[in-house]
Amino acid sequence: MSTTSDRISVLFVCLGNICRSPMAEAVFRHTVKQKGLSAEFHIDSAGTAGYHVGDYPDSRTIQVCKAHGVSINHRGQQVSVSDFAKYDYLLCMDDSNLSNLMSIKPASSKAKVQLFGEYDPEGERIIEDPYYGGVDGFEHNFRQVTRASLGFLQHLGK
Ligand code: 4NP
Repeated sequence: MSTTSDRISVLFVCLGNICRSPMAEAVFRHTVKQKGLSAEFHIDSAGTAGYHVGDYPDSRTIQVCKAHGVSINHRGQQVSVSDFAKYDYLLCMDDSNLSNLMSIKPASSKAKVQLFGEYDPEGERIIEDPYYGGVDGFEHNFRQVTRASLGFLQHLGK
């Protein structure tokens, strides 16, 4: 039986934690489950901002995940300094998320703080904020996080 400490822990991070990072969390969890690897991971998501703490994901994120058969169940939460001790990987969506995370990362933290898009085999590094656009932006994000999930697992040798 695995415990939290021997699992690979991954926190997906965006700005509001209602659009991109809960989608990344849901898609990565779905991918891991399909591969029979659920017991090897601890997966969650959070936002650098606190505007949407306690909120359900954006209706467009829920719509796109459901359309692709990916279950999603999350409430908004904000990244905290303690997350840098709790997680092996903090995988974020854009350069603004990355600089916000690096500005609060404790010097002693061994966590890897990276763009999730670094693992996209098609090389699309930035997962753009879809909030002010249409559902097509969310569909685009979905394809990106699907590719990056597979690329990240490959990187881990899974
Ligand atoms: P997310 O998108 O960072 O992908 O969750 C956003 C959600 C909310 C806001 C901005 C981006 N907002 O300004 O409230």
